[in-house]
This record gives sequence, structure tokens and C-alpha cells, in this order.
Amino acid sequence: MPDLSTTWLGLELRNPIVASASPLSEDLADIERLAAAGVGAIVMHSLFEEQINYEAHDIDHFLQHGGESYAEALSYFPDISDYQVGPDDYLEHIAEAKRRVDVPIIGSLNGVSPGGWIRYATKIEQAGADALELNIFFVPTDPEMDANAVERIYVDLVHSIREAISIPLSVKLCHFFSAIPNLAARISRAGAQGLTLFNRFYEPDFDLDSLEVVPTLALSSPHELRLRLWWTAILYGRIDADIAITGGVHSARDVLKSMMAGARVAMTASALLRHGIDHVTVMLRELREWMEEFEYESIRQMQGSMSHGAVPEPEAFERANYVRVLRTHSNTLRHR
Ligand SMILES: Cc1cc2nc3c(=O)[nH]c(=O)nc-3n(C[C@H](O)[C@H](O)[C@H](O)COP(=O)(O)O)c2cc1C
Repeated sequence: MPDLSTTWLGLELRNPIVASASPLSEDLADIERLAAAGVGAIVMHSLFEEQINYEAHDIDHFLQHGGESYAEALSYFPDISDYQVGPDDYLEHIAEAKRRVDVPIIGSLNGVSPGGWIRYATKIEQAGADALELNIFFVPTDPEMDANAVERIYVDLVHSIREAISIPLSVKLCHFFSAIPNLAARISRAGAQGLTLFNRFYEPDFDLDSLEVVPTLALSSPHELRLRLWWTAILYGRIDADIAITGGVHSARDVLKSMMAGARVAMTASALLRHGIDHVTVMLRELREWMEEFEYESIRQMQGSMSHGAVPEPEAFERANYVRVLRTHSNTLRHR
């Protein structure tokens, strides 16, 4: 039997398949089903800064930082009824999940501005969460705001949260940065033990009938994994933080690729929403079968084996390969 165990943020996990933040953690029965199906850990759906501030009737800060007029800002502000639960219910939900299952439970906070909502990091720790995932999602719209100012928001927030808690912290990032390795290193130095790569960017669509900008949230497809593999392979061994891959993990092969790129865990949400929670069981079985066929004894032995520093041709991750692939592609088209 291959050893599937891994460590992530200092936590011992029975295997690297982690249920990513999604509505599947909103229901305690689903949390029990995820644990029974075999996941290594469960990340809870997020508690949002806006949700906390709204509840506290403390929206001034958000309005100031939204850069919109009061009326406009209010119209964008999510209705409190859109949230499944209030902040205190969220904490109780974590405490109850901890009582019911024995896999690590990771709380999730989603916010961007400094402010009172940060105290919920402490409350999530007190509720019993084994770690915290901080999803920072900032949309820079001001042309006068430079990249350093944007990144400072991230680093300062990590500092503040680190000071508030003693459980491990992972930061969930999107990939729209000009210097990902530098930012990753600064986030790690600010006190994060992990990086969760990458947030899927929210991409609003246009409704041509109503001429409105409409929110869309499509489930992922497996090809989205490649971006994550690429950056994980580059960051592995270069920063002092555990990497979790999220985005496009749909099968055991995706988990294997994630491990070889250098991730400690592979998180999955869309595949479970599409195929059901029992898909975890299928992924685990196929993971074991593949490892037995290719004579791998443990997950740990494959972690990072195809990272930038480990492969014989590291240029596969760099510009040289990009030039090669474009040339090959245009030659193929010309000879058709
Ligand atoms: C319906 C839905 C709800 C989600 N809710 C959250 C959330 O509350 N917090 C969060 O950090 N990510 C959330 N995510 C993002 C997922 O955790 C995950 O990072 C993303 O979907 C990419 O992984 P996947 O390809 O396995 O779906 C959500 C995703 C979906 C599809």
C-alpha cells in the first residue's frame, strides 16, 4: 500500500486531497460525507469582510475604500440575505464541524482592507480551526496606484493576521502579479506558512439584453491546472512556504501532477460539485493504483520531482520553451 500521507502548514494529513472552500462545507452532513469519503482536510467556505462589517453596521470603512459614491457603493454591496449565515453562526459551524469529524478543518477569511473584521481570524482560531486560509481579493482600478502599493495591501494584511493568530496561515492568491516569486517570498516572510495557488478570478459577463454587468461563476475545467503547475514548479524550493494547488484538480492524475510540481496538497471544489462527494473515493483509489503501477512508495517522494529546480530541462518552464512552442505550432499550421 503506498503511503499517501503529506504535511501541509505543519499539519499531518492522511492524503493530499483537500476539499477546497465551496458550498460543500456549508452543510455539516456534507462535511461528514467529505471526511468519510477520505479527504485529507476541509477548507470551509469563506467568511467575508463585507459580511462581518455589515453585521457590525460598520460599513463606513468599506465605503471609503470602495472609491465609489455612497449610493453606488450601496448598490454593489451584497444583500445580507445573500449570505447563508452570519459571522457568529460561521464560528459555531466551525466548532461543530470540529466536533463531528477528525480531519483538519481550515477556516477561510476573505477580505482586503485593514479593519475590525481581522479580529475574526482570532475568533476562527478560538472556534477550533486547525489553520486559516486568507483569501485576499483586491481589484485595482486606480491607474495612479502602482504595483508596489497593491502588493503592500497583501503583505500588510498578512502581517496583521499573523499577529492576531497562532495557528498556521495560508494565503490564497490570484495570479495577476508582475513578480509572483517576490510577492510570494514577502508574504511568507510576513508570516504565512502556505500559499494557495490560485484563486480563480471573478470574471463578470455582459448581458446584452439588459445591458447589465452580470456576475458569473462557472465550474473549472482541468486545463486550468496548467497555470498552477507552472508557478508551483517555479516557486518550489525558492520560497519558505508550503504550496497548495487549487484550480483544475479534477482527477487522480491532476493530484499526481500537483505533487510532482511541488505542492503539498491538491484542493478540489468543481469536480466534487460536478460529480458528487464520492468522487473523492474514486480519486483516492486511482491515486493508489497509479502509484502501485509506477512503484512509488509515498506521496512525499514525488513532491517537487518535476519542479523547476529538479527537471533536467528547466527551460521547459521559461521563455525558451514559449518561443519553441510557438515556432512548432506555426510550422505545423503551415504544413497542413
Ligand atoms: C460555488 C463555489 C463557491 C466557492 N466559494 C469559495 C469561498 O467561499 N472561498 C474561497 O476562498 N473560494 C471559494 N471558491 C473557490 C474554490 O475554493 C476553488 O479555489 C476554485 O473553485 C478552484 O478550484 P476548482 O477548480 O477545484 O473548482 C468557490 C468555488 C465555487 C465553484
